[in-house]
Amino acid sequence: MILKTVGLSKDFGSLRAVNDVSLEIKEGTIRAVIGPNGAGKTTLFDLITNRTHPTSGKVYFQGKDITYLPPYKIVKLGIGKCFQISKLFPELTVFENIQIACISRARKVFNMYSPGNNAMRDEVLQIINSIGLTVLTDASAGYLSYGDQRRLEIGITLALQPTLLLLDEPTAGVSRAEGYEVMKLIKKLASERALTIVFIEHDMDIVFNYAEEITVMHQGTTIATGAPEAIKSNKQVQSCYLGETVC
Ligand SMILES: Nc1ncnc2c1ncn2[C@@H]1O[C@H](COP(=O)(O)OP(=O)(O)OP(=O)(O)O)[C@@H](O)[C@H]1O
Ligand SMILES: [Mg+2]
Repeated sequence: MILKTVGLSKDFGSLRAVNDVSLEIKEGTIRAVIGPNGAGKTTLFDLITNRTHPTSGKVYFQGKDITYLPPYKIVKLGIGKCFQISKLFPELTVFENIQIACISRARKVFNMYSPGNNAMRDEVLQIINSIGLTVLTDASAGYLSYGDQRRLEIGITLALQPTLLLLDEPTAGVSRAEGYEVMKLIKKLASERALTIVFIEHDMDIVFNYAEEITVMHQGTTIATGAPEAIKSNKQVQSCYLGETVC
């Protein structure tokens, strides 16, 4: 297992946002985490990356206990994340956005004001090519379509050379057609770079088209994990989530 959580819980005051979640993610697979608003999906990602400290439980990455590691060390070990909130620099170009991420990973000294700075150019261009933004290399990030901004965010995360990618609603805020394109890209990158993917998603068509395994959360608890067909026919999932009725 590339990622394992054991009895992970998080309380916010009297609210138990994540309740005793034990997950096992196999290397090289694509896992969706689904569940209604407030189910605890984002908090689960925050616990895995230690942006939020767990109330109890453990997180293991490649067999190593990472529960109390500082987030930057977790990134360095190979967990990349794209969160719901964009981290692009809108006034900088596609090239510069990726370049900054590459440089920060490599911890190179970077002088933003030196003319025609070509630091790590080959790697930057290679990432831009792999996310399909070559024709927009010199465009300002803020002028990209939402779908292309999503691609760029994924590129920034790739610059950190992850082996596991956590994506929080990668298709949120884009049209359905663009959403499918973003997912196609993620699938392509996963196979090219041997990545493991865990993504949070509300669009069930996308989930059932792209996930190899699905975990369903409801009120902080994982109520089911399995292959798409098994999840579709799971009665508890149908009543708690897919049917949108109250449990
Ligand atoms: N920092 C916080 N302080 C207090 N409560 C929080 C905090 N973060 C999340 N919560 C609460 O924890 C619960 C789970 O929230 P979370 O954001 O993980 O849900 P989610 O499944 O990602 O929902 P969505 O689909 O809307 O993104 C919610 O009731 C939320 O209000
Ligand atoms: Mg969320």
